[in-house]
Order: sequence, then structure tokens, then C-alpha cells
Amino acid sequence: MLDRISFWKKEEKTELNIRHDTIPAHVAIIMDGNGRWAKRRGLPRVAGHHEGMKVVKKVVKYANSLGIKVLTLYAFSTENWKRPREEVDFLMRLPGEFLNSFLPELIEQNVRVTIMGHKEVLPIHTIQAVDEAIEKTKNNTGLILNFALNYGSRNEITTALTDIIRDIEAGTIGRDAVNEDLVSQYLMTSSLPDPDLLIRTSGEVRLSNFMLWQLAYSEFWFTDVNWPDFKDEHLKKAIYDYQNRGRRYGGV
Ligand code: FPP
Repeated sequence: MLDRISFWKKEEKTELNIRHDTIPAHVAIIMDGNGRWAKRRGLPRVAGHHEGMKVVKKVVKYANSLGIKVLTLYAFSTENWKRPREEVDFLMRLPGEFLNSFLPELIEQNVRVTIMGHKEVLPIHTIQAVDEAIEKTKNNTGLILNFALNYGSRNEITTALTDIIRDIEAGTIGRDAVNEDLVSQYLMTSSLPDPDLLIRTSGEVRLSNFMLWQLAYSEFWFTDVNWPDFKDEHLKKAIYDYQNRGRRYGGV
């Protein structure tokens, strides 16, 4: 504990210099710890999600200013439906609230909004909010803000496999065309590069069914900080650490 405190104190004093020529192109974040953040303050869990939404706004701006090309945020997993009804309802209203207040700024910042996940089963108000954002930002050329919404990686891979089998049976592709590139093309991220950097907050050290295929060679960065407390400095530190690691992709 003492080590951690002295580390952060030291970090506050030391300005980290990140290099602008090796900024990770794709950063993916598992935004965890909203519930614990709220509990510690005697607040309902949804207060943590609401605070977490505000952090999303700040992080998007900072990521865009750094020149990150894609920011994928795990906003709702296929497993999150198991949560209490009121919490699910609240989470489903967040994209609408976020976009109501922030879409003009996203447009001004040249951000393009995309969604990864099974959108069709979301409540109609959620679908309308995200569809409007996708449509209004579709020609933007800056940061791609990719929300994983009702997303689960095993489901994504299974769907890709069944689609590949269907296309082989239909004769659209040959059996010998099946390779890693082809599988990638059948995933929900077919138009995106794989993440260079994965961040997970709140001290949990697992993937929770997030981008299992795409994260094969990504650098992982974990922090004890809960998502509502995540600041620009934490993203900067994650990038700094990323830039000081050697990525060998299995080579030497
Ligand atoms: C995990 O924390 C977080 C979620 C399941 C939801 C994440 C959503 C946001 C941060 C807001 C998203 C914003 C937009 C614009 C869609 P947890 O609830 O599991 O926290 P805990 O582990 O402490 O209980």
C-alpha cells in the first residue's frame, strides 16, 4: 500500500513524456468498477454508471487529441442482462443521455460513432439514439468511437463460424479460403485494426468475454482505479507503459 502511494506521489511530480509517433492506433477499455465506486460513497450502483458516462466524455476528447484512431469501450456485455432490471434499464438509457448531450461536440471533434454487438435486441430508444449518432457521424474522419453494446466475444466468434460454414455451403467461398484473415473478416471488427492496447480498470485481471480473438497480440494494462476515477493521466500512463514495452509478436 505504501509503495503504491509513493508511486503515485512520485508520478504526480514527474511529467510523463509520451512519444507522438508511436501512439497506439486502437485502444480498447473494459470500464470496470462503477458499482464499487458508488458503494464506497453510499450511492446506488447506477450513480457509478452515470459518473462513468461523464468519464467517457473526457477520455474520448483526450484520446482524440492524442491521435488515437480507434477507441473501443465495453459498455454492455451479453452477460450484463443478468443484472437487476432497474440497472439494465438505466444502462440502456445511458447511450441516449450521452449522445443527447455530447453528439454535437462529437461531430465538431470529427469523431465517428460505431457500435459492435447485437443492436437489434436493444430497447427501441437505445437503437434510435445510437442509429442517429452513427448516421450523423458516418463521414467523420477522426477518432472512431466504437461502443461494444450487447457484445460478447464467444457469441461473435460462433456467429462468424456459422456464417463461414453457410458461405462455404452456398459456394460463395471455398474451404481452402478459410484462414486467419478470413475469420477476422467475419468478425464485428472487420473494418478495424486489432487493439494495440487493452486497459481494464478496478483491479480485476480478466477479459470477461471481450475481444478474445482481436486481443491475441495486444498489450494489457491494468489499474486498481475504478472507472469513475479514471483520468487523462491514467490513459497517458497506460500509453507511456505501452511505449516502453517490446512487442515481438512471437518473434525474438
Ligand atoms: C462495469 O462496472 C461497468 C459496466 C457494466 C457498464 C459500463 C458503462 C459505463 C461506464 C457508461 C457507458 C457510457 C455510455 C456512453 C454508453 P460494474 O458495474 O461491474 O462495477 P463493479 O464491478 O464495481 O460492480
